Amino acid sequence: MTKDKQPSALSQIIAYAGSSKPLLYLGCVLSGINALISLAPLFCVWFVLRDLIKVFPNFEQASDAYIWALLAVVFSIASLLVYFIALLLTHKSAFRIAANIRTKLLEHISQIPLGYFIGHSSGEMRRTIDSSAASTEDLIAHKLPDFVASLISPIVFIVLAFVFNWLLGLLCLIPILVSVAAMWWMMGRKSAQGGEYFMQRYQQALMDMSAGATEYIRGIPVVKMFQQTTYSFKAFYKTVMDYRDMAYQYTEYCKKPQVFQLVAINSAFAVLVPAGIILAQSAENFSIFLIDFLFYVILSAFITTIMTKVMYATETVMIAQDAVNRINGILAAPIIKDVSLRESEVPENYDISISNLSFSYPGSSNQVLNNVSMKIPASSIVALVGESGGGKTTLASLIPRFWDADSGDIKIGGVSVKEIALKDLMGLVAFVFQNDHLLKMSIEDNLRLARPSASREDILAALKAAQCQDIIDKFDGGINTVIGAEGVYLSGGERQRISLARAILKDAPIVLLDEATAFADPENEALIQKAMSKLCAGKTVLMIAHRLSTVVNVDNIYVLDKGKIAESGSHNELLAHDGIYKNMWSEYQKGISWKIESEGSDVA
Ligand SMILES: Nc1ncnc2c1ncn2[C@@H]1O[C@H](COP(=O)(O)OP(=O)(O)OP(=O)(O)O)[C@@H](O)[C@H]1O
Ligand SMILES: [Mg+2]
Repeated sequence: MTKDKQPSALSQIIAYAGSSKPLLYLGCVLSGINALISLAPLFCVWFVLRDLIKVFPNFEQASDAYIWALLAVVFSIASLLVYFIALLLTHKSAFRIAANIRTKLLEHISQIPLGYFIGHSSGEMRRTIDSSAASTEDLIAHKLPDFVASLISPIVFIVLAFVFNWLLGLLCLIPILVSVAAMWWMMGRKSAQGGEYFMQRYQQALMDMSAGATEYIRGIPVVKMFQQTTYSFKAFYKTVMDYRDMAYQYTEYCKKPQVFQLVAINSAFAVLVPAGIILAQSAENFSIFLIDFLFYVILSAFITTIMTKVMYATETVMIAQDAVNRINGILAAPIIKDVSLRESEVPENYDISISNLSFSYPGSSNQVLNNVSMKIPASSIVALVGESGGGKTTLASLIPRFWDADSGDIKIGGVSVKEIALKDLMGLVAFVFQNDHLLKMSIEDNLRLARPSASREDILAALKAAQCQDIIDKFDGGINTVIGAEGVYLSGGERQRISLARAILKDAPIVLLDEATAFADPENEALIQKAMSKLCAGKTVLMIAHRLSTVVNVDNIYVLDKGKIAESGSHNELLAHDGIYKNMWSEYQKGISWKIESEGSDVA
């Protein structure tokens, strides 16, 4: 089986550098050069020592030693300078990459269908944009140049090791070889379960635990209500235990290689010193041997630093992979094509015609709407009824293009909704959701979302029309009361009325009304009825109704059953034949009489 080869995570990130790519490459090359230069002073020190020993004890004759010492200083300064320039270049490129990633994500998000945001919290998306862009900043500015340097250093190190005394050099290399082997052992080996790399399973266990904790905390109210604390806690507890087991297994597994590695890189001297003593006895020129030996002792001291750097460099790849996964996750969301405001067509009237509409939610194989056709004549009220999960909310949400249908079309005044710019389309439609979307801001600001230019009088008038006077009077802050602030609690019916006020303020020619399943009390219900009739007066209305009393007088009723239109007609027409609606109606009547009876018995 062939698999499409994806570019590596790092090259996907670098692709965002655009015209700053050469800067990034140059920065990395300079960082590599710096790795070379930074070892040069060590070399110079060897020559200084050699020249000093040669002329011992007449040090004034060691003129070359001064030159080598000076060169050591020059190399040290050059190394700093080159590193500084390298970081300057990589930072420039890193900021460009982060900015390009943010722009690309925001551009994409602005084209994502609105419905997508119902299933994905905007806070989570903001965090993804911020944190993935920020982690690429650090990755490109620091980790990548260090990564290049950490690849170059061991090579230089190996070459240097053989320059003066190959036998001592070889001994110096032993710790490096052991350390590399141990790292390969720790990182590269697959675990027995499913052949996944240990590191992958470890990361997965960490993510599961964090998701488990979020779910547990989110569900606390429901869990307590149903007294399911132990059960729910068990699910979270399991992720914690899985993580513990995984971490323990991994630690257990790493125990041996880690010991080998740490001992190897820290015991370079332990190998070198006895070997030096043995080799010294057979040395032809003892003083030269002594300088060589000193050189290798100093070189060994570098091993720890270099190998630790190499070890952490592998982290770079993981950070890049994580950032790319999150970025691509957002970019994978579908986009909706919008026409420009200039090309946007203006409907002649506001009648809505839906023809042969079929739809499944992105990523789901379940067909929610199947060849649905219906008409909502301008300035009429059409109701949509049907069993829960039948697709009513979905159908209404396709009109303002929360999603685009898979096939079929929706026309407003003869113009396909796809030919109307989204901004214009939003202006044409006011919707009141089943689950109201009130934000944690003042009542006034919540309303103002519908029409930012509205005056205070407009807002008060809309609240009055939506029967919200009692809500405003209840709080000292009046319309400045912040919804959701401490001590401010609105009932379901009250929230629904505020949502209706917002839709009234918008004063759009088309109204989509998704009635809440239940209202708190009869008083609220009567107020909501009044608010709804104010909102619907003179508009083209699609009303999704759960309590059939609301639809008795509407112009036309469509019954949606399992994604298909099963029946349509006026209330009386539908009652005249034995179908779903008639059934629903008698069930509804039974419900009402049961309610009256039980209330009657309460009184008695
Ligand atoms: N965002 C979504 N992603 C995937 N599937 C969804 C989404 N929203 C709804 N569905 C599915 O689409 C189907 C129809 O849902 P919809 O909300 O349109 O029903 P409804 O008729 O409005 O029900 P109710 O009367 O309970 O409000 C359901 O099976 C539901 O699971
Ligand atoms: Mg619904």
